[in-house]
Amino acid sequence: MPIPYGWFGVGYGAELKAGDVRPVHYFGCDLVLFRNESGEAGLLDAYCPHLGAHMGHGGQVEGDSLRCPFHHWAFRPDGFCSKIPYAKAFPPRAKREPLAKSYPVVEKSGVIWAWYHPDDVAPMFDVIDYPEFTDPAFAEPIKREWRFASNPQEIAENGVDVAHFAYVHAMDAVPEGETDYEGVRRRSVARGHRTIDLPTGERKQLPYSVETVQNGAGQKFTRLSGLVELSLLVIATPVEADDVELRFCFTHPRVEPGSPQEKAIEAAIESTCGQKGVEGDIPIWHNKIHRARPYLCDGDGPILRFRRYFEQFYADGPDGSRLVEAAE
Ligand code: FES
Ligand SMILES: [Fe+2]
Repeated sequence: MPIPYGWFGVGYGAELKAGDVRPVHYFGCDLVLFRNESGEAGLLDAYCPHLGAHMGHGGQVEGDSLRCPFHHWAFRPDGFCSKIPYAKAFPPRAKREPLAKSYPVVEKSGVIWAWYHPDDVAPMFDVIDYPEFTDPAFAEPIKREWRFASNPQEIAENGVDVAHFAYVHAMDAVPEGETDYEGVRRRSVARGHRTIDLPTGERKQLPYSVETVQNGAGQKFTRLSGLVELSLLVIATPVEADDVELRFCFTHPRVEPGSPQEKAIEAAIESTCGQKGVEGDIPIWHNKIHRARPYLCDGDGPILRFRRYFEQFYADGPDGSRLVEAAE
């Protein structure tokens, strides 16, 4: 499948200090990520427009720019060349337009988001900020990361694949709840009750809710409420068309260290990440193919509706083939 367009997480803001320069590889491209001395993060094509040095290897931040290690040309986060130390006349084209290819970058929820579009179309929507990830009343983000052969669509589709919950995760299906599709956003809220056995031997019915927001191909947010309050950012970033980096970033209102609430939060994180969660899915995603025309039955979730939504993120359509209901 092609690489969809959207905002994709390329790192955490707190892990990129002013002056840091890092070679990275996303969207099938060698790139350089840096933070200048004014605190602005930049993501540029790694190869210098001058004679092609990789600026992520030996490049250094100088003021508001990244300086290439080869002849010390310097580039700002917007791709404009700010300095050629030995040119007698600064080239007119370099004054007019950016020489280096740059990716739009924003920082929200503690994540550095880069906009990718295969035709370099400017951002068509915004990243959603979830302030709890940078709120001191909330816990320091708890981060997990995986990399495997897959793509953002397969990962996102998992949430509407209601039948797999019983077989992969040995759990009851998560009801889809009320879902609403609006342009690039899909929101769903599922509410229910869970029976909890308390250590006192008592049984209790606790209401819970799971709220999710998918915002374009690269940003998903989940909020669990009930026994625990937990916010999760799911960040799926294409490395290549069939190679993905998946980050989970959790936070929750601060709780007493060692308290039963803290144990419950740890257990919820473990079940979201472990075999009952994403680590149950990863080996399947890693080895599967994408069936553009799946053979579905009546117990399957709203997979085709979800695909019609996700299809909009492919500049040239998902694979050239129309989606059809194959269960006949
Ligand atoms: S190759 Fe970068 S300055 Fe020459
Ligand atoms: Fe799953």
